Amino acid sequence: MTEDAISNLANETRHFDPPADFVAKANVTATAYDDAKADRLGYWAKEAERISWATPFTEVLDWTNAPFAKWFVGGTLNASYNCVDRHVEAGNGDKVASHWVGEPADDTRTITYSDLKDEVCRAANAIEELGIEKGDRVAIYLPMIPEAVVAMLACARLGAPHTVVFGGFSADALASRVIDCGAKLIITADGGYRRGAPSALKPTVDEAVAKVEAQQSGLVENVLVVKRTGQDVAFNDDIDIWWHDLVDESSPDHTPEAFDAEHPLYVMYTSGTTGQPKGILHTTGGYLVGVASTHSAVFDVKAETDVYWCTADIGWVTGHSYSVYGPLTNGVTQVMYEGTPDSPHKGRWWEIIQDLKVTKFYTAPTAIRTFMKWGDEIPAKFDLSSLLLLGSVGESINPEAYMWYREHIGGDNCPIVDTWWQTETGQIMISPLPGVTSGKPGSAMKALPGISADVLDDAGESVPNGSGGYLVLTEPWPAMLRTIWGDDERFKKTYWSRFPGMYFAGDGAKKDNDGDIWLMGRVDDVMNVSGHRLSTTEIESALVSHPKVAEAAVVGANDEMTGQAPVAFVILRDSATGDGQGDGGAAVIKELRDHVAKEIGAIAKPKLIMIVPELPKTRSGKIMRRLLRDVAENRAVGDATTLADSSVMDLISAGMNTTKDEE
Ligand code: PRX
Repeated sequence: MTEDAISNLANETRHFDPPADFVAKANVTATAYDDAKADRLGYWAKEAERISWATPFTEVLDWTNAPFAKWFVGGTLNASYNCVDRHVEAGNGDKVASHWVGEPADDTRTITYSDLKDEVCRAANAIEELGIEKGDRVAIYLPMIPEAVVAMLACARLGAPHTVVFGGFSADALASRVIDCGAKLIITADGGYRRGAPSALKPTVDEAVAKVEAQQSGLVENVLVVKRTGQDVAFNDDIDIWWHDLVDESSPDHTPEAFDAEHPLYVMYTSGTTGQPKGILHTTGGYLVGVASTHSAVFDVKAETDVYWCTADIGWVTGHSYSVYGPLTNGVTQVMYEGTPDSPHKGRWWEIIQDLKVTKFYTAPTAIRTFMKWGDEIPAKFDLSSLLLLGSVGESINPEAYMWYREHIGGDNCPIVDTWWQTETGQIMISPLPGVTSGKPGSAMKALPGISADVLDDAGESVPNGSGGYLVLTEPWPAMLRTIWGDDERFKKTYWSRFPGMYFAGDGAKKDNDGDIWLMGRVDDVMNVSGHRLSTTEIESALVSHPKVAEAAVVGANDEMTGQAPVAFVILRDSATGDGQGDGGAAVIKELRDHVAKEIGAIAKPKLIMIVPELPKTRSGKIMRRLLRDVAENRAVGDATTLADSSVMDLISAGMNTTKDEE
């Protein structure tokens, strides 16, 4: 974003006040900000009353060993009990927990809280029978089917931390996560439906298990397989077990054990600035309080009447916090959809909203921009009048997309909550409150009650309104990550050392003239593609692991649809340089792109690969990605005076016309 664009934001005055209805009935009122400021820990102690504790906590926060936090010290609870049993015990067993919609037409399931409880108990008994005990890790690699939620809750019930791996990730990515967290069990499916056809998952798991076996023989003891599509899959009788053979035969009764508030709940891997993804650890009590509280406040949840739909895949943190743990703890009725938004037609999401009378809807700007491109007439065909509130997450929502969302989906009368948070924060941190805060198109507005955020300059000073800097969180919060799995040092170094005593988010931000916060994108080597985090280094490592590649540099270039897209600059090895010529490099570029998909997943495939003779480096050997970004975004190349060899950029810019290949 240019300096001009940044200062325009500071002058942005367009805003939408909360609708009167919301103000009158809001779960959280304007005084919450001041109340929480006056007694932050008291605020969280009160919020902790939303959930059921087996043993009450004796201290809200122990921060003596910072940055290793202990929230709700002495408290014990079971997350799965909070998500299901207590709603059944309260007499809400017949309430619908999930309206599940499969991608093939008429493939639906309606699951009540009682049904969910029975299924979670069966799965917990089954997993226990496979030898999983408190503290053991379980990897989950499933499509968006009810069993995904059931598997997560069954693990939580046993105190066995789950690590859900997005179904779009490759066998290599799955294997490295299984090894890093030492998962004994993988729960998967034969496949799932995407874009009108069954796509396979089990073969990827088989490949991953073989890779794990080669490195750490015997680690994976079992693979539990849900039959979703019925496609033919290889079955290894030594370790593979069908879900229906084991889970369906298990008892629907299971007594949940209460675990310490700090017992690990899950590990979620996310890209950092090195090639190795970080296993973000979330624990039980603080996490559950954080997500239940913010889900209620930000979406102004009315459990009796809401039909809530978060479109995120459970393979990402948004799915964990706002499709599983937050909404289920709050006992709402939800929608879960298996497939893609364009299957079998481009109005599928709007049809679901119309048919199930969705009231609160939460999605990502990249999806909104796609719908804008598809045309206003598509949502116009459906009755979206049930909608009361719209949410956005994953990247800044550009003002055009905000206005389109507001007008064409929200009928101009739904507040929009632009929610800033991260895998690490676990819970929403910066967002308007729909009954209190105005919404400005493009701004996440301000830190929620009980949360303290600031924007600092290089020297660590808080910037004045109208200026930009680095986003930090100045106080601990309940759902904060506790560490990076197995790497306390990296945890301290990544998040707590840039500005001592404060959490460094890795995002640039700006305060406008009212002090409201505008997120400006990452300040590190992490890019945001369709609201998903990818590390430039991780893609570079994937590229250089290919035998034809000598060196690679990857940048996140602005992209109209996906926010950013990976663009790679590759130097081929001498033995392969012939491949980079003749056909303009098309064959080798395809090979490299497929290689990245195989190493990481299709989402990481570079949109553009350029075969170049050199990379722009400073005298100390650092790649100047800024210059590569200029090339990738078709701009005049900026100041190149610090390059060791300034003619390099001429070569690269010239190469732009000959060796690029765009997908
Ligand atoms: O750069 C910010 C961006 O997404 C990053 C977090 O990515 P991840 O851990 O994958 O979690 C995504 C969903 C919570 C942040 O560092 N980001 C997320 N939400 C917003 C955002 N940027 C601007 N505005 C947002 N609302």
